[in-house]
Amino acid sequence: MAKYVTLKLDNKDLELELITGTEKEQGIDISRLRAETGLITVDTGYVNTGSCISEITFIDGEKGILRHRGYPIEELITTSNFLEISYLVIYGELPKKDELENFSSLIIEHTNIHTSLQYLFNNFPAKAPPMAILPAMLNALACYNTELLNIAPESEEFDIAAAKIISKVCTIAAWAYRKSLGLTFNHPNPNLNYCANFLHMMFSMPYKVYHVQKEIEEALNLFFILHADHEQNCSTSTVRVIGSSRANLFSSISGGVCALWGPLHGGANMAVIKMLEDIHERGEGPMHYINLAKDKNSEYKLMGFGHRVYKNFDPRAKILKVHVDKVLKVLNIKDPLLDIAKEIEETVLKDDYFIEKKLYPNVDFYSGIFLRAIGIPVNMFTVLFVIERIPCSIEYLSV
Ligand code: CMC
Repeated sequence: MAKYVTLKLDNKDLELELITGTEKEQGIDISRLRAETGLITVDTGYVNTGSCISEITFIDGEKGILRHRGYPIEELITTSNFLEISYLVIYGELPKKDELENFSSLIIEHTNIHTSLQYLFNNFPAKAPPMAILPAMLNALACYNTELLNIAPESEEFDIAAAKIISKVCTIAAWAYRKSLGLTFNHPNPNLNYCANFLHMMFSMPYKVYHVQKEIEEALNLFFILHADHEQNCSTSTVRVIGSSRANLFSSISGGVCALWGPLHGGANMAVIKMLEDIHERGEGPMHYINLAKDKNSEYKLMGFGHRVYKNFDPRAKILKVHVDKVLKVLNIKDPLLDIAKEIEETVLKDDYFIEKKLYPNVDFYSGIFLRAIGIPVNMFTVLFVIERIPCSIEYLSV
């Protein structure tokens, strides 16, 4: 039976329906508010606002729960690879064997990019950040896929457009990196799976094919799964806002990529590494920076701490913390930045300032060290974030 809350305004009562979500969480439907009262709501940062009804992801920030299509993230990292998760996010269920094969073949089929699009890379300056090249190139895909510009989200063509962008983003991302180093471009290898192919396009040399180490491929796969979706955040909301004008998929995603670039969102793990490097190089010790972050008169923030949604712990950070140690051990890497990170973490978790404000390490606190360990350069950290978020962004366009 429908339930309502009553809004009292002067002598008038307005009944607003309560909406119940898949996990029994409740929200108030205010769609009639303006028409019936002339009022609007003010919700800076949209922390109290759901902009759509979606079954893709459930988060309980207080309890540290993250689920995609009902599956807890802790389960997804043990049973799946990234393309399975992409399928899950887009189509609502984990794929059966033949469904995964078809989906993977579709992705492989579209990995190449048009030759004249390749030449566009040459016109960027040598020092162009890959995160600047990426949205430009994703938007440029619209020029090469004009038959896919006016398609409905539920059409078959939309699946093709989705496969193209999931697939080509890896090639474009790897080439943006090669461009920044003045290196020749590596073409995709259809015999490699998604993560291995990306590593090959990033690191193979004309005179030496990059041997994809199993541990590194698995680590990258884990990393991709962990970030596969995180509800209506800054970048996915941007994709939806652009898409709501019926702009094409390529342009909508391109706008979302720009939104992801900032250090308070997708750029945070780069900022964490920069912070740890500064601490290492300057030798003032972590306490100096922790105190700076607590100082009311300073704008300084401890990067990798705090989260808009998670107020007790970030489940992704918990998983990644365990895997950072494992990966460093397996690859036999000693990283002085990890020692600094551990010292900061231990101090902050006992510090009243951070406890009172519920500031815990977020996933980005560990992800920079994790990515460094598997050989990903710092200017590619946010680019990886883009690759991970493409499937969910596509799906958010249809809800
Ligand atoms: N270091 C020191 N103080 C902090 C920090 C921090 N990292 N984060 C928040 N605070 C303080 C802030 O100054 C404010 O203090 P006061 O109450 O005295 O004004 C209080 O805590 C609440 O801060 P807020 O900015 O209102 O908190 P928020 O929940 O709106 O913001 C955040 C969340 C992630 C933007 C913020 O915590 C932050 O800037 N963290 C550092 C950047 C970072 O690690 N970002 C990655 C987020 S996870 C990636 C993603 O999901 O996209």
